[in-house]
This record gives sequence, structure tokens and C-alpha cells, in this order.
Amino acid sequence: MQSIQSYINDNKERFLNELIELLKIPSISADSAYKGDVLKTADLIKISLEKAGCDHVEICETDGYPIVYGEKITDKNLPTVLVYGHYDVQPPDPLDLWNSPPFEPIIKKTELHPDGAIYARGACDDKGQMYMHVKAMEYMTSNNELPCNVKFMIEGEEEVGSVNLSKFVKANREKLKNDVILISDTGMIAKDVPSITTGLRGLSYVEVEVTGPNRDLHSGLYGGAVANPINVLTKMIASLHDENNHITIPGFYDKVENLSDGERSEMAKAPFSLEAYKKSLDIDAVYGEEGYTTNERNSIRPTLDVNGIWGGYTGEGAKTVIASKAYAKISMRLVPHQDWEEITKLFKDHFESMAPKGVKVKVKPHHGGQGYVTPIDSVGYKAASKAYEQTFGKTPIPQRSGGSIPIVSLFEEELNSKTILMGFGLDSDAIHSPNEHFGIWNYLKGIETIPWFYKHFTELSS
Ligand code: BES
Ligand code: MN
Ligand code: MN
Repeated sequence: MQSIQSYINDNKERFLNELIELLKIPSISADSAYKGDVLKTADLIKISLEKAGCDHVEICETDGYPIVYGEKITDKNLPTVLVYGHYDVQPPDPLDLWNSPPFEPIIKKTELHPDGAIYARGACDDKGQMYMHVKAMEYMTSNNELPCNVKFMIEGEEEVGSVNLSKFVKANREKLKNDVILISDTGMIAKDVPSITTGLRGLSYVEVEVTGPNRDLHSGLYGGAVANPINVLTKMIASLHDENNHITIPGFYDKVENLSDGERSEMAKAPFSLEAYKKSLDIDAVYGEEGYTTNERNSIRPTLDVNGIWGGYTGEGAKTVIASKAYAKISMRLVPHQDWEEITKLFKDHFESMAPKGVKVKVKPHHGGQGYVTPIDSVGYKAASKAYEQTFGKTPIPQRSGGSIPIVSLFEEELNSKTILMGFGLDSDAIHSPNEHFGIWNYLKGIETIPWFYKHFTELSS
């Protein structure tokens, strides 16, 4: 399969231009104003799967955005790889912090990406990484190198919780039957440090509302005499962590898996520079739960963070007012064994019970999902490891990630197969942030590595 490198060399301009066309469409699933664009993106993915050599491609309608399904079944006795990815993207705001418009992709060279990186919303998460699989498929079918069966399932609602995909998976177990699930929607440690993601955190996302007086009040006439919902909300939020930055919700840690000292020291071997980490974020110190390292805090430990908080007057100048209501959106990242619905209930009970006299507190659960861990001795992991060895000349390091792809644990439950997370993004790619980008080197390296996974997985499976 040496020819994959020359195939990429001969076609890389086209590979880039096709991705750029995909990135031009603002497929923002969270904002209904972009409905037409999200649907248009699904159509484009369908066409690209057909061109890449799938025998059968269909747009599967759901109650929300469609799922693009494609397959090439060569021999029922051969293993089947199911590729999952998402074509929707996060909203790009705040727009004024982008150096170029989020849906007008441009290529720029940076210190980390001397070959250039594509700047656009979705460049890394997940259009760029998903499209690597489409191009790897194109290579394999057009060079007679596809060793097994393949199914693609590309959804348009990952960034809003994959609610309709869950239903689709439950209703289509036979159609989606596979031997391994392959996803590129995570990252790797560094360009010269390949890694395979072996864990994802779960998520519970809630919105809270504190209501005080029946209308906004003059802060001089009423200030000090009635509960101010914003004062109350911030105090309640502050009480959710203690002085050691442990979360104070009763029962929150009950099911948290404690890693052995051996596992922790294994984790600590992954290359990491605290100085570089701080420098990249312009912070003079890190922060977090007492007793854990930065890499532990952002992967094997659960967290609670306010994602947004509002109420009262935030316009220009000053307005003396006590707001009637205050709100916050809060996410809790969970680790394996913590059940997201149980944690959501613990939060709701605790937060509502904390309400002081004079206000009403409501907790509205949003969405969530379970965490995931996968062993490093599965056939899929071994095949991925060999694939990286082939293209990076190094054995990849297993790494638990702090991010969430809630559908992965459902895949395991419903489809009974392991998911292999071969991510090619870097932390500095700024996913979900202004100026998201994806290195061209990473994009092409992904396309080069994926066909080796198919080859090794098929060989190791027989
Ligand atoms: N691709 C990300 C998740 C991710 C990124 C995992 C990097 C590991 C490393 C995914 O698109 C995402 O953003 N997930 C959401 C959860 C979802 C329910 C909105 C997240 O993690 O916030
Ligand atoms: Mn993603
Ligand atoms: Mn995302």
C-alpha cells in the first residue's frame, strides 16, 4: 500500500478544494436559521460518498436533521467497519474575534503548521476529520485496496446532542451491524506524538433559573430589602465547589472510578509541558481539583462549569436595577460509571433545595450522555496502533480525552461493538472557538493512516 502516499501527492489539491467547498456551507445545527444549509451539507456528503465508491448511499430522514448512510459490501464473510462522523458545526460566535470569516475558508501558514492550516468553522470538528475517511475510501476503492466491508453513518446533530441518531441506531441495528466503529472526531497529543483516544467523558447539561420579585426593581428603592436573583444565583453557584475545588453536590462522586496508582503513573508518562500549556493560554497558573494533575483534571475527573450566565442590565452605561430573574447554563463532565441522568437528578435536587427564602429556583435538564472507556487489547485498538506505526514510525500512546461524544456509549450498548477513536486534531486547533483550523499535514496524514487501519483490522480479524 506504499501507493497511498503517491495517491495523496497526486490528489492533494483536489482533496483540499473539496473540503473547502464543504466548509463554505454554514451547517450550524443549533440555529434554525441555517436549516437550508444543514440540509444542503447532507446532500453534498451523499454525493461525495457516491463518488468515493459506496455502492449504496441514502439520506435517512429523522425528526431532525438527516443521517447520511452509505455502504460498500464486498463479501458478507469479511469484517465490516462502520465509520461515524458529523457534518454539523458549532455556531461561530463571537464573530468579531475571527481573523477571517468562519465560512470563507482560507489557508494560512503558522509556526505549528508550516504546510498551512485551513481556517474555518468545522475545519477540524468534524468536517475535516470526517472527510479524511471519505478520501481514504476513495483511495481504497479506486486502487482495489478495500479489504473489507464499510458502512458510513454521518449525522447532522452531534453538536446538539444526537437525539435523533439515538433513535435511528435503536431502530436500525441490523442495517448498522459491524465489527468495529471508527471515528475521527478527537485529537492527538502532538504532531510527532500520535495517540489513540481511549476514553471520553460523559455530560450533563442543565439550565437554571432564579426568580425573585415579580418585576425588575429600582436598585435604590428596593436594594437590600429583597433577594436579588443575580446575587443569589452567583452565591449558589460558588457553593458548588469547596475550598479544594471538589464538587459539593451530595452523592456526586459516589460512582466515580478511582484509577490505581499504576494507571495514574502510566498516564503521567504521556509527554506534557505545564509551561507550554500555560503559555498557550496566557495564564500564570493552572487551577483545579486538589490532589490531581492537569491531565488528570481534564480527563479522569468529573467537573462542573458555568457555560453562560445572564440577567439584569448588560447594555452600554449603567442602569440601576434589580432584575426579576437570573439564569445560568451549567455543564458537568462525567467519568465512566457516573450515570448522566442520575447526576442530573442529584444536581436538580441539590440546587433546588439550596434556594434561600425569597426566590424560586428551577433546574431544566438539557441533554447529556454517558462517558466511555475502551481497552487497549481489542483487535480494533491493535489495528489502529499498527496503522500509526506504519505512518508515524511510532507506537501511539493511549490517552483519555476530556471531551464528549455521547453517542459512542450508545453504539456499544446497541450495536455491541467497540469504537476506535483515531483523532488527528491538535488542542491548538481551537475547536468551538474563533479561528478554528485544521493542519493540512494532519488532514493528509489522517487520509494516509486510515487505509492501514482497514488492512490491519481485516488481517487481525481473520
Ligand atoms: N468532537 C467533539 C468532542 C471531542 C473533541 C472529544 C476533542 C475529544 C476531543 C464533539 O463534536 C463535541 O463537541 N462534543 C460536545 C458534546 C455534545 C453533546 C455537544 C462536547 O464535548 O462538548
Ligand atoms: Mn465533533
Ligand atoms: Mn464539537
